[in-house]
Amino acid sequence: MPLPSNRITQISESDLEGWEVYIEALRLQREGKDVIMTSIGEHDFDPPQETIDACKHALDSGHHNYTDIPGKPDLREAMARVSQKALKLDIKPSEVIAMPGGQSCLYAAMQATLDPGDHIIVIGPHYVTYPGTIRAAGATFTVVDAYSEDGFQPKAEAIEAAIQDNTRAILLNTPNNPTCAIYSRETLEAIAEVCVRHDLWIISDEVYWSLSNGKHISPMAIDGMRDRTLALLSMSKSHGLTGWRVGWIVSTEAMSYNFSQHNLVSNYGMCDFISKAAQQALDGDFGLNEIAETYRNRGTVFLEALGDTNDIRVLNEPGSMYFMLDIRAKTNNTQGFAFKLLQDELVAVMPGESFGPSAAGHIRISLGESEERLKEAASRLRRFASNYTE
Ligand SMILES: Cc1ncc(COP(=O)(O)O)c(C=O)c1O
Repeated sequence: MPLPSNRITQISESDLEGWEVYIEALRLQREGKDVIMTSIGEHDFDPPQETIDACKHALDSGHHNYTDIPGKPDLREAMARVSQKALKLDIKPSEVIAMPGGQSCLYAAMQATLDPGDHIIVIGPHYVTYPGTIRAAGATFTVVDAYSEDGFQPKAEAIEAAIQDNTRAILLNTPNNPTCAIYSRETLEAIAEVCVRHDLWIISDEVYWSLSNGKHISPMAIDGMRDRTLALLSMSKSHGLTGWRVGWIVSTEAMSYNFSQHNLVSNYGMCDFISKAAQQALDGDFGLNEIAETYRNRGTVFLEALGDTNDIRVLNEPGSMYFMLDIRAKTNNTQGFAFKLLQDELVAVMPGESFGPSAAGHIRISLGESEERLKEAASRLRRFASNYTE
């Protein structure tokens, strides 16, 4: 039998280590147990009705054909308009390329900046698909950890110390998943200096921009960074469309040409009726403010129910889709803590270690449950933590 390529088999090393708690929670759910699922970043609600209606209308009105490879012109216009709001920069439609979801954008960005043998710096803890997406480009990476004590803001000196001769890019994610850190202007300016000094790209994952209470700053908006940043945006979180697969990359016209070539050979353009509905959802801001408000309210309810406790330190304010909680007063073995919390209280959380060693001693709570259930999860967590001993 012929063998598959090394490129494909090397994608998934062991990046799903630490997901055992989630897998066990799914098993318990299948057994009929009522697990409060605060583990993954998925909405528990349907897309906005206007977006669903727009899609039905697009299906009934002939949107069934191949679309323009870089994205349909009206979709790119809508994406450029939303990018101006997200990035606080003037963005032209010709600087935007539509892709099927933020993950596709990540894949394309790695392909566009890294040749086999090149190297990229990733900030830890990080989103789970990053390593595989880099390996798929034949590149290597170094994780530079950010720490709870610094509010999980990455340090430019540590990034600079990790640069090698073959380093081509730094991958940033703000607002961050899993830590919920929103990178400050100071952090971004310091990283920008390093980038310019070493002539590097920034691949900037900004898919959570709308869940930042207006505090998001794009690395692209920092002096000197406009042309060396690839900003990745997506409708999954902001517009409640995880399963629709709509994202885009903002870059320069020259890089957009390259991304268009990438689309030509990878997806041959977006789905027609999804493009039409997505354009209308972007133009009408369908769900944008409501979803942000839903998560803000859920966060407030969760925090109120958690109350003051010395066992759990809350690292971020309500506003994001997650909370990062420091439980080092209780344990550093968060995997063990999370397993027992699931067994005893039927609350599923992500142990910090799942995202990298610098998140050990932390748990990430997703707000993908109703206010009522989050209130219940908070009181179970509080009770469990106060009685927890190893
Ligand atoms: C940090 C981060 N980047 C990218 C993605 C991918 O999002 P999309 O659904 O647009 O592919 C996610 C999804 O959870 C994420 O958390």
